[in-house]
Amino acid sequence: MKFGVIGAGQMGGGIAQVAAQSGFDVVVQDVQQAFLDRGRGVIEKSLAKLHEKGKLTGTPDEILGRIRFTTDLADFADCDLVVEAIVENEAVKAELFRKLGEIVKPAGILASNTSSIPITALASASGRPEQFIGMHFMNPVPLMALVEVIRGYSTSDETAQIVTETAQKMGKTPLSCNDFPGFVSNRILMPMLNEAIQCVMEGVAEPEAIDGIMKLGMNHPMGPLTLADFIGLDTCLAIMEVLHQGLGDDKYRPSPLLRKMVQAGLLGRKSGQGFYKY
Ligand code: CAA
Ligand code: NAD
Repeated sequence: MKFGVIGAGQMGGGIAQVAAQSGFDVVVQDVQQAFLDRGRGVIEKSLAKLHEKGKLTGTPDEILGRIRFTTDLADFADCDLVVEAIVENEAVKAELFRKLGEIVKPAGILASNTSSIPITALASASGRPEQFIGMHFMNPVPLMALVEVIRGYSTSDETAQIVTETAQKMGKTPLSCNDFPGFVSNRILMPMLNEAIQCVMEGVAEPEAIDGIMKLGMNHPMGPLTLADFIGLDTCLAIMEVLHQGLGDDKYRPSPLLRKMVQAGLLGRKSGQGFYKY
């Protein structure tokens, strides 16, 4: 299988890495060479760590050798499966899928790693709705077991089966759901993170205490504010907007503090500051 990934950020880089670890030939695209270089650096570090722990089949160099980095979308023409992992913005993703629908060979499957945007809308934009699906990896991709597989309105059984089997070949556990705002994962996770942010805004407790209470009290591996910083506050806000708009209920309204921090450029780990400094 020839595997394509669009976006070399934290998710795209991780997806490309795990696909290459699983023996697939991978092509990764981003809009600038500098973003590809940064993504490659993150993959190198992760592979070195996994190699040190004896968790790789083959050497990091062999695995990296299966990944080609490009800025040219035309390089996806002969891909069997292309997974998109760019910014969480429906208009930007839809425009990309419109182009990909014209570039990728007719038999190729297109998938989105979106956290929340309707799969059915992106499927329509691609012009090949039966061969379109949500393939939602979790962060950090090399360590997390789940792939949430989201069927759009017109996704074919064959597409769902190929993507499910591909996730399994990547060592992941695929679990399916239907196309509703935030799917299962972020419909349940993100309101909790938003509520933790609301607690900061209302002065219920300091961030360290909020995270400590949820880590020690609920056995969560990361507190909700650490996790929001890890995901990216821009991404968290985009997901909350989709939930609020798509489900309507006031309980999904993004916290004003979340909005303000994104406006201020405090995006969490990726910008060097969010609820904590990095
Ligand atoms: N690649 C390779 N190794 C990695 C790595 C990566 N990307 N990230 C961390 N590691 C390694 C660390 O280097 C560390 O190695 P050592 O033990 O040798 O030091 C080891 O993994 C454990 O890491 P840490 O000690 O830093 O921290 P930890 O024990 O807390 O584990 C974690 C890290 C697995 C990320 C854990 O904190 C965790 O599960 N956090 C929650 C993650 C989560 O909820 N993800 C879902 C986010 S939501 C989402 O993805 C969907 C969406 O649409 C927003
Ligand atoms: P990121 O900001 O780390 O990376 C996004 C990358 O996409 C950047 O390198 C950017 O240059 C590139 N990009 C933007 N527009 C592009 C375009 N038109 N063509 C090619 N590349 C483009 O973001 P991320 O955290 O990797 O998130 C990517 C996607 O994955 C989003 O849809 C997000 O909702 C989803 N997601 C994120 C997480 C998470 O925890 N961060 C988890 C699961 C899913």
